[in-house]
Amino acid sequence: FFGTCVQIVQYCWPQLLKGLGITLGLAAITVIFGTIIGGLFALVKLSKNKIVQAIAGVYVELIRGTPLLLQLWLFINIFSYLTNGNMPMIVSVIIALVINSSAYVAEIIRSGIQSVDKGQREAAKSLGMSNVHMMTKIIIPQAIKNILPALGNEFVMMIKETSLASTFYIGELMTVNSVIKSATYKSIEPLVIVGLIYFIVTYSLSKLIKYMEGKLSVSD
Ligand code: ARG
Repeated sequence: FFGTCVQIVQYCWPQLLKGLGITLGLAAITVIFGTIIGGLFALVKLSKNKIVQAIAGVYVELIRGTPLLLQLWLFINIFSYLTNGNMPMIVSVIIALVINSSAYVAEIIRSGIQSVDKGQREAAKSLGMSNVHMMTKIIIPQAIKNILPALGNEFVMMIKETSLASTFYIGELMTVNSVIKSATYKSIEPLVIVGLIYFIVTYSLSKLIKYMEGKLSVSD
C-alpha cells in the first residue's frame, strides 16, 4: 500500500499539484465573487424596504436549503440549454459555486453587521452622521472583526465543496483522483493521497485563520 502511494506521488505529483491549484483557484474565485454578491444581499436584507428584503430572504433560503450538487446540475443544464451547449462547463460551475457561496456569505456579513452593539449606531445617529458615513466609519470597521475570520472559514469550506464539481470533470483535486484511479486501477491509494492534500491545506489554513482572529480581537 505505502509503496503504491509513494509511486503514485512520484509519477503524478505534477497532476496533483495542478489539481490543487485548480481547487484553490476555484475556491478563491468563488469566495471573492461570493463576497461581492453576498455583501449586496446582506445590505438588502438590512435595508428598510420590505419587498427587496423579502426577495433577498427567499434567495438566501432557497440556496442554503438545497444541495450544492443539485445547484451545479441545475445551472449547468440551464446554461447549456440557453447557449445550445456552447457554455464552457467550468463557467457554469463557477457561476453555481459563486451563487451558492453568496447566500452563505450574505448571512455571514448580515450577522457580522448586526453583532455590532446597537449603542454604536445610536451614538453615530445622535452625532448627526449620515447612514453611509456611519456604515463606513463606525459599523463596518467593527463588523470586519467578525466577518473576516468567517470569510476565511468559507474559503476553507469551499476548498472542500469544490470537490462536488469533480462530477463534471473540472480538473480540480477530486477529478485528479478519478484520473489516477482509472490509470492505475487503484482506488484506495489515490483517495488517501488526495485526502491528505485536502487535509494539510484546510488544517493549516484553519490554524492561520485562528491565529489572525486572535490578532484581530487583541486590538479591542
Ligand atoms: N455541501 C453542502 C451542500 O451541498 C454545504 C454547502 C456549503 N456551501 C457554502 N458556500 N458554505 O449544500
